[in-house]
Amino acid sequence: MIMFYDNYIQKDLSDISRKLGDKNKQFDEKTVLITGGAGFLGYYLSYYFMHLRADKSASVSVVLTDNFMRGRPSWINELESNFGQAFRTIMHDIIEPLPPEIIACQPDYIIHAASIASPIFYRKSPIETMDANILGLRSLLDYSVARQVSPKPIKGFLFFSSSEIYGSPDPQFIPTPEHYNGNVSCTGPRACYDESKRFGETLCVNFVRQHQIPITIARPFNNYGPGLKLADGRVVSDFASNILNGEDIVLLSDGSASRTFCYIADAVHGYLLVLLSGLPGESYNIGIEKPEISIKKFAELFSSVGQQVTGRRSIIVAAESDDPDYTVDNPERRCPDISKARSIGYDPDVALEDGLHRTLLWYQKFQLLR
Ligand SMILES: NC(=O)c1ccc[n+]([C@@H]2O[C@H](COP(=O)([O-])OP(=O)(O)OC[C@H]3O[C@@H](n4cnc5c(N)ncnc54)[C@H](O)[C@@H]3O)[C@@H](O)[C@H]2O)c1
Repeated sequence: MIMFYDNYIQKDLSDISRKLGDKNKQFDEKTVLITGGAGFLGYYLSYYFMHLRADKSASVSVVLTDNFMRGRPSWINELESNFGQAFRTIMHDIIEPLPPEIIACQPDYIIHAASIASPIFYRKSPIETMDANILGLRSLLDYSVARQVSPKPIKGFLFFSSSEIYGSPDPQFIPTPEHYNGNVSCTGPRACYDESKRFGETLCVNFVRQHQIPITIARPFNNYGPGLKLADGRVVSDFASNILNGEDIVLLSDGSASRTFCYIADAVHGYLLVLLSGLPGESYNIGIEKPEISIKKFAELFSSVGQQVTGRRSIIVAAESDDPDYTVDNPERRCPDISKARSIGYDPDVALEDGLHRTLLWYQKFQLLR
């Protein structure tokens, strides 16, 4: 029985599968290695691949690897027991050399998602954050080069970069296109993340140039939805936690910064397109252009959606974060230009209110998910 999975997610997975159509066949009889697979994106990707397997669209296998620094989520046990050898888990810190168990799996596709992604957590562990994005990535790239000789070349490599590589964009570059080079501090409290993603991209493009590895790069812009840990310290999970615990929504800033929020199922469709149809060495923004909304307005919208789900409306209050660097170098505006991703078939369509509604229902049902 599948537990960490409900009708909404079933619909999301079917929608992604329908949108990808024949491209799903590229996963048939293939093995996908997902690093950082125990995280938010790993949750959705893992269920997606097992959905393809269950509905016989593609006989794909997954090898999930993670160091479980934030615990081993229970949904992994569920996939292991439902899919046996087609869903394997290997505990591994990606900054260490790849162990023989991973090498023996001979993955056809590599998705490098291992990185501390929440600002609260990466500021606490800046060196580990840089290591996962640079040393961990390098180890996977070297392995991909070795695979060109034996036993067979890999078919695709997706590196998860970030919208943070743009830093705080010049207003004339909002919505931000991929060719904007960014406005980023190399020493500020967010630099461990931003600069390691930037150097990660530099590593990727040069491994394409020098070794012709089929690497593509996704730049996610604020994804949200089922699978995001409630204690993750990102704005969506913090507000959801406030709403579900019957608390006020706490703003830790003046709420003026604006963001666009992209529902996970839209984003996962985009990531798989980048993996399967992106050009080697190219980066693609994956997010949604509208609405660009201030954090204060977002809190109000979330509170109203919360009222529909829980029957109680949370009030919005201001407080100061314990973290003195909470807002330092935090971009005022973040909004993607997604025309490049649209050119390979990306077309996000889940409205913010709808996505937040689905997210709250899912949290309500699976609140124990860690
Ligand atoms: N979700 C978003 O909106 C978003 C936005 C920008 C970038 N990204 C990037 O996408 C990727 C996945 O993001 P997510 O939201 O799933 O993050 P997440 O924090 O939910 O998951 C990341 C996973 O990586 C693992 N990890 C961290 N360091 C590791 C290491 N050294 N070895 C092995 N595992 C390690 C963690 O245990 C965790 O399970 C990350 O690279 C992140 O930087 C995500």
